[in-house]
Amino acid sequence: MNGHQVACTVGPYELLDRLGSGGMGHVYRARLPGEGPAALAIKVVPLQSSAQRAAQRQRFLREAQTATRLRHPHILPVYDYGESNGQLYLVMKLVEGGTLADRIAQGPLPLGDVAAILTQIAGALDYAHARGVIHRDIKPQNILFDRGGDAYLSDFGVAQHDPRVGAGGSSFIGTAAYASPEQCRGEELTSASDLYALGVVTFEMLTGTLPFQGMTALAMMHQHLHQPPPDPCTLRPDLPPATGEVVQRVLAKRPSARYRSAASFSGALSRALYSPATPAPLLPSKSVPAAPLADTTPARPASLPPAPSPTANRRQRRQKLMLSAALALLTLATIAALLLTLL
Ligand SMILES: Nc1ncnc2c1ncn2[C@@H]1O[C@H](COP(=O)(O)OP(=O)(O)O)[C@@H](O)[C@H]1O
Ligand SMILES: [Mg+2]
Repeated sequence: MNGHQVACTVGPYELLDRLGSGGMGHVYRARLPGEGPAALAIKVVPLQSSAQRAAQRQRFLREAQTATRLRHPHILPVYDYGESNGQLYLVMKLVEGGTLADRIAQGPLPLGDVAAILTQIAGALDYAHARGVIHRDIKPQNILFDRGGDAYLSDFGVAQHDPRVGAGGSSFIGTAAYASPEQCRGEELTSASDLYALGVVTFEMLTGTLPFQGMTALAMMHQHLHQPPPDPCTLRPDLPPATGEVVQRVLAKRPSARYRSAASFSGALSRALYSPATPAPLLPSKSVPAAPLADTTPARPASLPPAPSPTANRRQRRQKLMLSAALALLTLATIAALLLTLL
């Protein structure tokens, strides 16, 4: 929130302060007059020049309509949309826990948080994919948190970018960081492209950095197309080695070589993070408490029983030995006492 005060209305909604800005326009805290405290966020998108206006309006309204139909505990609800005074607008639930981008900016996330956030977002993504909806712009700025720490995927299909249009400009850089190889080639996007972008986001949560860091959108796209992704374990040595294999697979250059679903990716990552070779204890997910999950969402990673480490096994064996020795001594002492009594 940047505290800009605005006093105007869009359609029937009253705009309050500005929450943030993106490539398409500004987002405001808003409310319906007479309906109590502000609980809405409205994205206001100015209409383009008359030549592109019809296509822009048609695409925005079509995508907004699709977004209103998506109902999942981890998809940011879109309540309404429309056009008012030469502007398009999208009315969403207001969430005030910041974005995943804010959290990554503070450094790598605790492993338990990575697993929990990924499980929630993967459930949301599989739900949309099962209904034929491709997100097209998965990035940390589009993953928002409520005050309880639950994650929401926002901006389904609304923020479409064409890499061929923006490849030379700086505005595409943010999205180029998450663009799959097929997106970089300008091919049609599929659910596998969303999975690739989710893989990049996961890499960022684990390491605090992007896997590919070209200086321009074009350089970054070249890396997505031709450079193997780095092993996250080299950037964060406390990661179990199996994490690297999972990341390699979700960031495969060939869409068919990636995981079949977001849930299978998040499941594989959780298993890797909770694997017995984990050298450091995992932090429990405090900031992402349990939330009702849809059918498509796999079991929360926090419910996985922690595998016993080799150190714990050794400790258990030592305890058993000491117990046996104590029992043997006790038996000997009892026999000696009996003999003494008899003599
Ligand atoms: N529903 C919302 N509730 C609260 N803040 C929001 C909401 N939607 C967006 N924002 C804020 O507005 C900013 C701009 O959003 P957006 O226009 O979608 O651009 P981007 O996704 O590129 O950041 C976000 O980064 C976030 O801080
Ligand atoms: Mg957004």
